[in-house]
Amino acid sequence: MIREFAGEWWGLLWRFGRLMSVGVMGRAGRHQIRRMSYDIGFRRSRGRLFRVSPQEVFPADLEVSIRETAGEPWNVKLEELLVLNALVRQVRPSALFEFGTFDGRTTLNLAINAPEDAKVYTIDLKPAGPTSAFVVGSRFQGTEQARKIVQLYGNTLSFDFSPYVNGMDFVFIDAAHEYANVLSDSRNAINLLRDGKGLIVWHDYEAWPGVTAAIEQLVREDPRFAETRHIAGTTLAFLWRR
Ligand SMILES: C[S@@+](CC[C@H](N)C(=O)[O-])C[C@H]1O[C@@H](n2cnc3c(N)ncnc32)[C@H](O)[C@@H]1O
Repeated sequence: MIREFAGEWWGLLWRFGRLMSVGVMGRAGRHQIRRMSYDIGFRRSRGRLFRVSPQEVFPADLEVSIRETAGEPWNVKLEELLVLNALVRQVRPSALFEFGTFDGRTTLNLAINAPEDAKVYTIDLKPAGPTSAFVVGSRFQGTEQARKIVQLYGNTLSFDFSPYVNGMDFVFIDAAHEYANVLSDSRNAINLLRDGKGLIVWHDYEAWPGVTAAIEQLVREDPRFAETRHIAGTTLAFLWRR
């Protein structure tokens, strides 16, 4: 028992040491450190949004499908994926837009929980080439859900969103986490909503200072964002305009 515990203790110490030394040199490692510090209660930016429980947003017995349960540091956490999937089931969107595809784990899950004839648009930066650390969209490419997914490339700060404006029912914002990017992505997101109605979800609220500051500025200054809420137990914030 003690030997087993000692093995786990050393294993954790070794991984932690590696993350805090070599890990800080990579973006994924820095992301993981931020998520871990959030998980143990260290928050540089405690949010001011009104907090609601998941059960206040969707029924507790809602059935969802889930794929690719194992996550990478840049993916949403498993419980956040479940909440996102439940939100999709609840809203039943015909068209969805994701800012920040990464490996496509969330994209795949959005697609499988959306109605049969729904389309999921997802955007990420154009890959740097064979040296890229990951393949954008690799988790949905070649799957049965790929027919529902439209993969877009571009920088969301300069991308021409006009073909998608006023056509989306569900938007997920999880691209660059800097303040200016989140402000810009959020303003684009609200213009994407069909007749101004639908759901916007942000990832990493309270976990990233830039995300928290941008959302709270919008809530303070733009009445269209006034009803934005934080889902307790997650880093997801959402705005449901009906
Ligand atoms: C945290 S990851 C997204 C994770 C994904 N949404 C998920 O749930 O698994 C952020 C992604 O945004 C992309 N990204 C960063 N800045 C961007 C920008 N300005 N425009 C488009 N994509 C961007 C990165 O390349 C990265 O793949």
